[in-house]
Amino acid sequence: MMISEEKQQQILDIIRKSGALILSAHDLETRSDAITVKPGAANFVTEYDVRVQQTLIEALSGLFPGANFFAEEKENSAVSFQNAFCFVIDPIDGTTNFIHDMKCSAVSVALYYDGEPVFGAVYDPYLDEMFHASAGGGACLNGRPVSVSSRPLEKALVLFGTSPYNRDLYAKSTFDRVRNVFMKCADVRRSGSAALDVCYVACGRVDAYFEDILSPWDFAAGLLILNEAGGRMTSYAGEPPRAGEKTSALCTNKLLHPEMLQIINNI
Ligand code: IPD
Ligand code: CA
Ligand code: CA
Repeated sequence: MMISEEKQQQILDIIRKSGALILSAHDLETRSDAITVKPGAANFVTEYDVRVQQTLIEALSGLFPGANFFAEEKENSAVSFQNAFCFVIDPIDGTTNFIHDMKCSAVSVALYYDGEPVFGAVYDPYLDEMFHASAGGGACLNGRPVSVSSRPLEKALVLFGTSPYNRDLYAKSTFDRVRNVFMKCADVRRSGSAALDVCYVACGRVDAYFEDILSPWDFAAGLLILNEAGGRMTSYAGEPPRAGEKTSALCTNKLLHPEMLQIINNI
């Protein structure tokens, strides 16, 4: 299923507008009603996560009447990917960064048709950087084609995520893997936005990224962008991610994939 150029541009415009909402936020920590707690360790949701999501769903429903929405701040158990368009949305990826005004967060929107990704976009409003890809159409950053790096591991910069909401389960394995990788690469980094992590592998700024557990909205858009940029994403078992399912995630410039799989599984 191909999405017309015009529709793609319309989706990008909608996402860019929702990014302006993120930039308008202020005094979040001082207003008692602005932040609420979700299940899991240090898992917060702000009024902006909800507002950005509502704005996106309203505008995208206008563009794709009848489309389904699988989005972080709503109930998704009845959402189907079969025989229909389905948007997978993370309204603010990097909410903890957002609350701290760390200026490293993104809006992530993927569009699937019948379980297959057809379009994806990740927008960082702070840097005004829009990553997008369409199936078979390549990956772009602000409209210019991007592709993965060709660095070998000893020169590689590797990002990792801490699976912060499930730290009781994953802290030990995460930091054991980080140590293994750190001993073999140039250096490691932790950004706080999984969607941007995947895109940074896609555009060759970094060479690999891994995290023990991700939700579907964290990686849905990034996955298509990475694949279209020549990279690879699998679970730690080497399996391709499935629409709407949680997974462990290894994203690489493809070259590093076999070596990275071995290193992160050697704990
Ligand atoms: C989180 C961020 C973070 C990653 C977590 C995600 P959120 O998403 O992407 O970098 O480590 O696994 O859940 O909660 O800020 O949308
Ligand atoms: Ca997220
Ligand atoms: Ca989020």
